[in-house]
Amino acid sequence: MTPPLPVVELVRAGFAYEDGPPVFDGIDFAVPEGRAMALLGRNGSGKTTLMRLLSGGLRCARGALRVAGEEVTYDRKGLTRLRTTVQLVLQDPDDQLFAASVGQDVSFGPLNLGLPEDEVRLRVREALEALDIAALEDRPTHLLSYGQRKRAAIAGAVAMRPRVLILDEPTAGLDPHGQERLLEVLGRLRDAGTTVVMATHDVDLALRWADDAAVLSPAGLRTGPVEELLADDALLDAARLRRPWGMAVARLLREQGLLTDNTPGPRTAEELDTWSTRRTPRPTG
Ligand SMILES: Nc1ncnc2c1ncn2[C@@H]1O[C@H](COP(=O)(O)OP(=O)(O)OP(=O)(O)O)[C@@H](O)[C@H]1O
Ligand SMILES: [Mg+2]
Repeated sequence: MTPPLPVVELVRAGFAYEDGPPVFDGIDFAVPEGRAMALLGRNGSGKTTLMRLLSGGLRCARGALRVAGEEVTYDRKGLTRLRTTVQLVLQDPDDQLFAASVGQDVSFGPLNLGLPEDEVRLRVREALEALDIAALEDRPTHLLSYGQRKRAAIAGAVAMRPRVLILDEPTAGLDPHGQERLLEVLGRLRDAGTTVVMATHDVDLALRWADDAAVLSPAGLRTGPVEELLADDALLDAARLRRPWGMAVARLLREQGLLTDNTPGPRTAEELDTWSTRRTPRPTG
C-alpha cells in the first residue's frame, strides 16, 4: 500500500536569513495528515523558521513547498490556498492579536477570505467554543490574561478551518492546569481530523501527546514515531534534548520484569499511578 500524500511538505528546502548562514540546506519535511506531531530541537535549531516556511510566512530560497503534492505558488491564489490549508499560531499571542475585541480578531481571517457574514459568524462561534472562550467574545484583547490571549490567538487560526494547525511552543508560559486544558483542546481538534504540529522543548509532553516526532539536530531532521525517536539516546544527545521521564521509567520497569518488551511505557505520572494501585492495592482506612 502506498502511504497517503503528506498534507504539507518541504522538499530539499534551503533557507537563510538575510546576511546569515543557512538555517536549512536541503531539508525534507513531510507532515502526514491526521496525526499529532511534536517538533523538537534546542534553541536556535530552526523550529520557528521551519514552521514559517511551512505556513508561507517565509519562502525557501531553494526547493519547494507542496500542499497535497502540489507545489505552492506564492501569488495571491497560491497563498490563499496555503492559508486555508495551513495555519501558524505564533509563540507570543501579542504578535498575533491586533483587533480591539476577541470576536473581531477571530473573525479577521474568515472575513479576509470574503466569506458571507453568516458563515463568518458560524466559524467564529465554533472556534471560540472549541477553545472554551465563547464568554470572552466581546472582551478587549488587551484586557485578557496571557493564557486567554493564547487561546484567542489559536481560535483565530482555528476559524480558518485549516487542515494543518501549527503551533509554536503553545504551552510555554501556561500554568500546569492551563497546559492540560490546552492539550485537551488540541486533542479534540485532532480527533475532529485536524493535523496538529507543535514545537516544544518539553520531551515529556511530546512523548505523551504526539504520535510522531520531528527532531532537529546538527545532523539534520529526523521524523518518526515519537516512542521510537525519543528512545534513541544518540539522537537525543545530538539534538541536546533530555531523556523523557516516561522512557526512563519504562526501561526500569522492563529491567524489573514489570513490563513486557512490547507493552508501551507509562505516558504520564497519573498513568503510572493507576498501574501501581492495580498491582499493590493501597491500604484503606
Ligand atoms: N529574523 C531573523 N533574522 C536573522 N536570523 C534569524 C532570524 N530569526 C532566526 N534567526 C536565526 O535562525 C536560526 C534558527 O532560529 P529559529 O528561531 O528558527 O530557532 P528555534 O529552534 O525556533 O529557537 P527557539 O527554541 O529559541 O525558539 C538561529 O540561528 C537564529 O539566530
Ligand atoms: Mg522558536
